[in-house]
Amino acid sequence: MKRLAFFISGTGGNALNLLQACREGRVPAEPVLALASSPKAAGLAKLQAEGLEGRVLERKAFGSDAAFSEACFAACEAAGVDLVCLAGWLKKLAIPPRWEGRILNIHPALLPKFGGPGMYGMHVHRAVVAAGEAESGATVHLVDEVYDHGRILAQARVPVLPGDTPEALQQRVYGAEMDLYPKALAAFLDAGAR
Ligand code: GRF
Repeated sequence: MKRLAFFISGTGGNALNLLQACREGRVPAEPVLALASSPKAAGLAKLQAEGLEGRVLERKAFGSDAAFSEACFAACEAAGVDLVCLAGWLKKLAIPPRWEGRILNIHPALLPKFGGPGMYGMHVHRAVVAAGEAESGATVHLVDEVYDHGRILAQARVPVLPGDTPEALQQRVYGAEMDLYPKALAAFLDAGAR
């Protein structure tokens, strides 16, 4: 069974949801490590309480994205991690070649639209509403050197309703994320096993 790390910067909601899916046998993987980019990331304590090893690595402690990233992936290697799921992770990563194709992310929009630097959290939903889009959604993709750019693995669509606030849209998209990320991860693992 593949060993998973979750990289988080916030609530850890997606990570906890993936953990539950693993424990219920919907995703054939074993979560072992939670890596937080800040000691304030609320999800860290919850994931540790669930038995995961918790680590905090702060970007400001390193001189470059590359040095920071090396430390993040060294932590993964020390924990015997095979696959990384970014789950609300906000820091730029320089992907070491040995990790290419082994890092997944979830983005709260239908990439390639509404992605890239600065497009995170409520910024995304504000931009979608301001653009008058009829639909939005969530995207699970492989992570490469370019923000929100790697191969798309799965998407879920939700309508943008008349009068939607960015907050209302965020809640609808977040609900879709809870369904999408476990399914996309399970399908990715299944494809690798064949
Ligand atoms: C989600 O909307 C996800 O798409 C984005 O960051 C948010 C993380 O939420 N990458 P949480 O920390 O998992 O609650």
